[in-house]
Amino acid sequence: MSTGKYLRVNGTEYQIPGQWLGRRLLDYLRHELRLVSVKEGCGEGDCGACTVFVDAEPMCACLLLCGVVAGRNIITVEGLPQDFRQRFAQLCEKHGGLQCGYCTPGFTMMSAWLSGGGTETGKDPLDKLLAGNICRCSVYQQLKKVVAELT
Ligand code: FES
Ligand code: FES
Repeated sequence: MSTGKYLRVNGTEYQIPGQWLGRRLLDYLRHELRLVSVKEGCGEGDCGACTVFVDAEPMCACLLLCGVVAGRNIITVEGLPQDFRQRFAQLCEKHGGLQCGYCTPGFTMMSAWLSGGGTETGKDPLDKLLAGNICRCSVYQQLKKVVAELT
């Protein structure tokens, strides 16, 4: 049944099936669109593993319902420029910023946001990066070096 509600994800417009309107964006992206870079960690907005851009602002997909973000532009790691993703991967290798990789998509999104000039007033950008993203392998210092070289 047509709901008339759409999401633009990585440049492609999708009609949101009615049964998804009240469900989490995280699940829609992973299970319906197969964008598996979007990870579930805490499911409560604390770990940053599910970070996506919503109209160019980083947000936690685990906290958003599809119906609430209908009509907005969503970007996941899959939708970031290829050259940025390659550069991020190279720097992770150079600085040892990658272990199990579960947190990597969230850090990739935040790094893309910071390198694009995104920041919060009064906050050091690197503090912002580390405040909202948890790495259970604790490669924080290495990731700081990655972001410092990107920005
Ligand atoms: S899974 Fe969304 S912030 Fe942790
Ligand atoms: S590299 Fe394992 S959680 Fe960050």
